[in-house]
Amino acid sequence: MTSANTFEWNQVGAGLADSVTLIAGGARGTGATIAENLLQLGGSVAVCDINPKHLDDARDRFASHGDRILMLTADCTVASDVTRVAAETSDQFGRLTNMVYAAGAYRAQRPTLEISADEWDLIVDSNLKGAFLTAQAVIPHMINAGGGAIVSISSLAGRTTSPFLGVHYTAAKAGILGLTRHIAKEFGHQNIRANSICPGGITGQRMNDLLHDLHRESDLVQLADQTPLGRNVEELDVAGVVLFLLSDLSRFVTGATVDVNGGILTI
Ligand SMILES: NC(=O)c1ccc[n+]([C@@H]2O[C@H](COP(=O)([O-])OP(=O)(O)OC[C@H]3O[C@@H](n4cnc5c(N)ncnc54)[C@H](O)[C@@H]3O)[C@@H](O)[C@H]2O)c1
Repeated sequence: MTSANTFEWNQVGAGLADSVTLIAGGARGTGATIAENLLQLGGSVAVCDINPKHLDDARDRFASHGDRILMLTADCTVASDVTRVAAETSDQFGRLTNMVYAAGAYRAQRPTLEISADEWDLIVDSNLKGAFLTAQAVIPHMINAGGGAIVSISSLAGRTTSPFLGVHYTAAKAGILGLTRHIAKEFGHQNIRANSICPGGITGQRMNDLLHDLHRESDLVQLADQTPLGRNVEELDVAGVVLFLLSDLSRFVTGATVDVNGGILTI
């Protein structure tokens, strides 16, 4: 029995099943897990990514979802690339209602005084400028669709600093929070919501590679021990919050920053 004060759970699920989501950086890691969950719920997903190997792997992973998945090559720091993928997504599925920005390069931590301008550009452009350009490309399609939801993956580093990554990453991820607030304010009247997620270090290929490069593999165990919930973040922890932020369950949440870190900021 439902009333005006209860959610129709079928409708919440149906909303996600009706959704069309462009996931930037969705060919590997957290973005790919978000894609898999949306596909599992019946949604349509376009994944765009710069890395051909990641795209090939993802093609195999998503093959069973047939024509509800679109795999596109794009560098999100290039305006014409993201304009093209937004248009292709809209053409293929008839609309574009959601965007998730999960793309971004990283480099193992080095002292600030040793970071070159080129490395700054690589990290800040792929993590922040790409989020701006992709939002710019999708928003007109969302307006045509009557509204939409944007979720950008920032980081615990955007709220504090990172023990493994440098000044450019911290600055870019803090920038995501401001970008999100601005989009939320400017496009709220067009029924577009925008929110950010700040995960702590996520268990996965990227974290393994990073700790290997820094010769700090044992730090993962220490991090888990320091975390109130007793383990490190998993990709599914982030995907769950993304689904919430894309669904009607969060229909009055916009401009928010959601921490997904097992409580590490409480210590
Ligand atoms: N891994 C972590 O510990 C962690 C923690 C907090 C936040 N994050 C953030 O979460 C997001 C996903 O991280 P992940 O661990 O899944 O990383 P990942 O490296 O596994 O996946 C990121 C994807 O983005 C793609 N990409 C990079 N630059 C791109 C560009 N210019 N255009 C298009 N695609 C591009 C990569 O090819 C890759 O497939 C990132 O924004 C990352 O900064 C990660």
